[in-house]
Amino acid sequence: MMQTVLPRRPGVFRLGAVRCVLLAGAVFASGSVFGAAQAEESLLPVPKSVSVSNGVASIGGGVQIVWETRPSPLLQRAATRFVTRLTAIAGPAGHGAPYVLHVSAGADRAYLSVDEKEHYTLTTAAGGARLEADGPAGVIHGLATLLQLVRATPEGAVVERVHIDDAPRFAWRGLLLDVSRHFDTVETVERQLDAMELVKLNVLHWHLSDGSGFRVESRMFPKLQNVASHGQYYTQAQVREIVAYAADRGIRVVPEIDVPGHALAILEAYPELGAQPLPDLGTKGLNLNNAALDPTNPQTLRFVRVLYGEMGGLFPDRYVHAGGDEVVSSQWTKNPAIAAYMKAHGFETAAALQAAFTAEVAKILAAQGHVMMGWDEVSEAPIPKNVVVEPWRASKWTGTATRAGHPVVVSAGYYLDLLRPASMHYAVDPFDTKAEGITAEQLAKYPPKHPEFSMPFVMDEHAPPLDDGQKSLIMGAEGTLWAEMVSEPMLDARLWPRMAALAERFWSAQDVRDVSDLERRLPGVMTELEATGLQASQHQEAMREAMVPGHSGPLKVLTEAVVPVRNYALNHLAAPTGEAMLSAPVAVSNPDAFAAIRFNAMAARYVRGEAGLAGPLREMLQRWADNDPAFVASAKGVPALEAVVPVSHAVGLLSRAGLNVLNGREGSAWRMDAERLLQEQEQAFEGSASMLASAHSTQPPGGLLIAILPGIRALLGAHAP
Ligand code: ACM
Repeated sequence: MMQTVLPRRPGVFRLGAVRCVLLAGAVFASGSVFGAAQAEESLLPVPKSVSVSNGVASIGGGVQIVWETRPSPLLQRAATRFVTRLTAIAGPAGHGAPYVLHVSAGADRAYLSVDEKEHYTLTTAAGGARLEADGPAGVIHGLATLLQLVRATPEGAVVERVHIDDAPRFAWRGLLLDVSRHFDTVETVERQLDAMELVKLNVLHWHLSDGSGFRVESRMFPKLQNVASHGQYYTQAQVREIVAYAADRGIRVVPEIDVPGHALAILEAYPELGAQPLPDLGTKGLNLNNAALDPTNPQTLRFVRVLYGEMGGLFPDRYVHAGGDEVVSSQWTKNPAIAAYMKAHGFETAAALQAAFTAEVAKILAAQGHVMMGWDEVSEAPIPKNVVVEPWRASKWTGTATRAGHPVVVSAGYYLDLLRPASMHYAVDPFDTKAEGITAEQLAKYPPKHPEFSMPFVMDEHAPPLDDGQKSLIMGAEGTLWAEMVSEPMLDARLWPRMAALAERFWSAQDVRDVSDLERRLPGVMTELEATGLQASQHQEAMREAMVPGHSGPLKVLTEAVVPVRNYALNHLAAPTGEAMLSAPVAVSNPDAFAAIRFNAMAARYVRGEAGLAGPLREMLQRWADNDPAFVASAKGVPALEAVVPVSHAVGLLSRAGLNVLNGREGSAWRMDAERLLQEQEQAFEGSASMLASAHSTQPPGGLLIAILPGIRALLGAHAP
């Protein structure tokens, strides 16, 4: 039902009215951001409640914002961004009266905290719109929603007429950026913050220290940047800039300085704090994750106290992530002094010693006014209840941590570096206790070399569902993108659109779970994000050109039909390996190949009887079939491309088989070839269907899987002789 908007007179606070210039119909001729679908059906994340009216309102004359409550400078900047983005999407306004948007915002002293007010209502009527928010965060979210309601028509831009009442399911909706493994410049980080704002994510978990480098300037410990950053770090002024940029967009920044494990960079600068002598950093195959601090050295806790104190001045958020993951126990037990200390103090295991260290770190942070977060390892031994636990190894840790009374932010199931498609991550709910983890079946099929090490990653088949008390401890969730194999130019496309799918999982109701509807909306969201600053396609284009200067077209077409291997199978390729991975075709292949997803969906509809889809299907298959000889020609003399010629051949052969079906061609030889290849390629998917499978299986050339198999199989099955 459409709610009527009363043309309430702007009150005394008609301040800073912003005349937005936007949307001339003619400018839209070249393409709509949201395609033919109703804009309301393109909203992402799906709002809590949407009432749709019949119809649209014209906004071809531009939008005028009228503030009904005094806008803070922060809100005025939000309005300016809104104008800029609408113009970027739709072009300048035409003639005619502006569409008036009345905005009111309540005061919110809790802005930028987990208690902030995010609720808003948005009504877009024929004569104007009204955005009423409980606080600044609600205004920011409401403007993001409004941007997604805009649609192009031949008569000019329109906004869908709706009434929306919206608020998030979870207060903590985060994204982890790992700038230790690959550094990202300020500009790149800010681009992600812009995209986050538009899909209503509100926490940047900034992983600033790990084995590959320490990334923040420290005045107290200058060797951290002078030695351990290898020249790539944020100055304190840059950190302040990013924190302010995020705050403007309703995004909190939670820093992570990982201790006591993952400490190699810290130890490069201050080796005297290490549990073991500093390894030779030039050692081939050196595991950069293993080095640990010596928790029994009083200087270690002093270092943590002073460093965290200094960082606390840069990061105003209440929460600080102290890491705590993957401490390799031999780092401690093989140091005679630490072993003696453990014996003397009754610490039977490294986990017990770590718990004592964690309790001290939590105390230090509390004294500095912060709450500690840690990865699920910190919950393996009793620690203070208020420490926020972040499950990552398996969903069962969500159950155990909340049972022990810890608040939880879930990242198990949301590891984007596993290169799973959006649909798989989307299927995992933060309340799940059995979604992520190695299954008994996988264990039996691919026995791990060190079963005891893998136990924390193993699914608990008997994990009970969360009770209401446990559910109330789930603050939210985070998508994580560890960057061992993500260089800065790859970042935008590795994060998005999958992070947008997670944004919906973290914002929308638990029962919003229709995968095909998600897949229908993701391309439109990606278009919106790219029109407003994201550079995923642009960077991929540049990377392809760097691989095959002047002849990158066939590589682009090939990547429409392939996806990268999953679940860390890239670690097990024969080639490419190491840094070469970052400039090979797999680096420009997307876990969600939109064209392949569209093809598979259309093929399924075709075999169910939509005969009219034969034309578009034929067009796609012809394009991929014709690409094979072009790809082979372009690959000559380029080893990274020559390596994936078999993949191009396979895409070509399968595409020709699909064309044969559509063209009613008889014959059994091509059918048998196609069937054999289909089976082989489906097997390749099995080879990276889990982390254990990845470690045990031979991977396809260049780490590329063929993404059009379901559609081809549907076509072949439908017309079997
Ligand atoms: C982690 O992935 N080591 C938290």
